[in-house]
Amino acid sequence: MRSIRRGMTGSGLRMVILGGAVGFLSVAVGVTGCALFQSEQVKKGKHLYEHYCMHCHGEHGRQNEGYNWAQMPDPRPKDLSNKGEMSTFKDEEIFNTISRDMKDTTPNVGDKIGDDEFAVPTMPTFKYTLSEDEIWAIVGYVRTLHGTKLAFNVEDRKKELDDKLKEVQGVFDQAKQALAAADKTAEDEADKAGKDVDDNATAKERDAMDKATKELEIAQAAATNFIKRPEFAPIPRPDLAMSADEAAKQAERGKQLFSNKYGCNACHRVGEAGGMVGPPLDRAGFRLNGTWVFRWVKYPQAMKSETRMPNLGLSDADAKAVTMYLTTLKAPPPEKPLGTVQKASAE
Ligand code: HEC
Ligand code: HEC
Repeated sequence: MRSIRRGMTGSGLRMVILGGAVGFLSVAVGVTGCALFQSEQVKKGKHLYEHYCMHCHGEHGRQNEGYNWAQMPDPRPKDLSNKGEMSTFKDEEIFNTISRDMKDTTPNVGDKIGDDEFAVPTMPTFKYTLSEDEIWAIVGYVRTLHGTKLAFNVEDRKKELDDKLKEVQGVFDQAKQALAAADKTAEDEADKAGKDVDDNATAKERDAMDKATKELEIAQAAATNFIKRPEFAPIPRPDLAMSADEAAKQAERGKQLFSNKYGCNACHRVGEAGGMVGPPLDRAGFRLNGTWVFRWVKYPQAMKSETRMPNLGLSDADAKAVTMYLTTLKAPPPEKPLGTVQKASAE
């Protein structure tokens, strides 16, 4: 837990490369043996659950089983081993609970939240941390906690993404050829007439090409994210210089986001309240540097790939506000060290 090094840059980062990768899905995941596939998936899901979920939900999904359960603010995780209740959720609903965008639940000023939307800030999202395949494996494991099985067909989902990718690749290839042909015609005509090439003559083909390129990128990203964890470009240094007034405003908003949107308090203690999956943050203003905090909350996996802190998908603006809030946290040193060894000379 204490092994994070400050001031590390995003070295070792790999970026998502959108190359012509048609068909790689079927090669990489050509699994057919259904029963074997299922048990392998459940094993993988168990392993991930133990790393990312167990501290809050408990080894068997029961209440007050995980060490963080009693520390968390309300609502506490309910019983994932309760078959009666859990069976009422579809596999897709459980998937969407684990893989979603966080919502600001602050009354009046927060996000609009639909009645059927899951928006508990203290249940983190894993959309920006794990691959789609891994999240389905976790759903499969969660099903075993209440004695049922995943009904959703993960292999069909893979195929659907692969087929979509092939389809948009075909559209892209055609658009590319059409544009090349239109360019050539326009050039020939301009040559004949001794004029400059008329850009309008190929506008339609260029629009179609732009559209096809975007769709191809989306399909490639979806197919890639199915088998690979999300990867992002290195987080640039933020500009945190601002007036005292602005800093106070940002800190105020950051405090709201901390509990009401990203549920940081589910894992981090500030003062008397909050979870203990991560270190207490009430002295973050002394201990941590703003630039480092910004880059950590935007992309923890860039610094520590297996950290239990998920990437919660913070926008730059939200990360800045949260960072400004943390820089204001300057509690006096604890009487007794809390969990971790504190340097006596820390202040
Ligand atoms: C920081 C603590 C925490 C972690 C970590 C966490 N959860 Fe949760 N989870 C909650 C809370 C709080 C809720 C909301 C209360 C409830 O409905 O159980 C919740 C709700 C859920 C629900 C929904 C039940 C419903 O009402 O729809 C499922 C399923 C779930 N979590 C699964 C997981 C899985 C799987 C992981 C790991 C990938 C995970 N959780 C990680 C705290 C956590
Ligand atoms: C599911 C639990 C969880 C959630 C939610 C979470 N964190 Fe963390 N956080 C951790 C863990 C675990 C660590 C320790 C990192 C490690 O060594 O893996 C950590 C480390 C940190 C650190 C470095 C602390 C230090 O003393 O070195 C900061 C800062 C931090 N988190 C801020 C946040 C903020 C801000 C949020 C909300 C946007 C947040 N965390 C949400 C689990 C969580």
